Amino acid sequence: MARLAIGVDIGGTGIKVALVDLDRGAFASERLRVRTPQPATPQAVIAATAGLVERLRRLPDGRAVALVGIGIPSVVMHGATKSAANIDDGWIGFAAEPAFGAALGLPVALVNDADAAGLAEMRFGAGRGRDGVVLVLTIGTGVGSGLFVDGRLVPNTELGHLQIRGRDAERRSSAVARQRRHLSWKRWAKDLDEHLDTIDRLLSPDLIILGGGISKVADRFLPYLSVGRPIEPAQLLNDAGIVGAALFAGERAGEVPL
Ligand code: BGC
Repeated sequence: MARLAIGVDIGGTGIKVALVDLDRGAFASERLRVRTPQPATPQAVIAATAGLVERLRRLPDGRAVALVGIGIPSVVMHGATKSAANIDDGWIGFAAEPAFGAALGLPVALVNDADAAGLAEMRFGAGRGRDGVVLVLTIGTGVGSGLFVDGRLVPNTELGHLQIRGRDAERRSSAVARQRRHLSWKRWAKDLDEHLDTIDRLLSPDLIILGGGISKVADRFLPYLSVGRPIEPAQLLNDAGIVGAALFAGERAGEVPL
């Protein structure tokens, strides 16, 4: 029987949920999505999430799924959200994990969204079987980072907030920053390259995996990157956040080996 968990990916614009087969790292249901409530306060986001999870919990054979993993764009420490770059400030210092658990009526595992996406890439995507220092960057509204050492996650690295030219690097290297400034892929690649170069000087990763929606069009900007490290586009594309959140719940529960 397949081992299943529900994965939730909370983003700046949408909340996405699916049932995930932990052995295949793939969806085992349709993907449900609602717009992220605005303002994205804890109460509003938790209520919207609970509604989606409830629709997927009950399986056709009557069993109920007991594992739920939730990825969120915040530093997550000991179940509390500690930062809020692209969500409401109400998440700062909020005991989010127990609050989600109370609304859903079952324990949940909360993780940073980029750490979740990274986990999915490491287990089932471009990072599969790769040892050493592997960095997964998710490039979307912000830039998230998931750092792995021999396949184990170093959580909450937040490399989108490295200071470059006096401000957060993600303000120039995110996908939204490219659109906001109406930049060509080539011109934007220079800003991303500067971000990657700064990271490279600090961490010397063996492999950099670039994820987020832009990984679908990697050929438009990869040729312009000059960082002397292997760079690969992510393979799970927009599913990575959901799959990774579910894997995180599974790994925490001891269902999947770390
Ligand atoms: C947040 C991170 C998040 C990333 C991608 C950043 O602005 O600080 O926590 O992983 O955006 O969503």
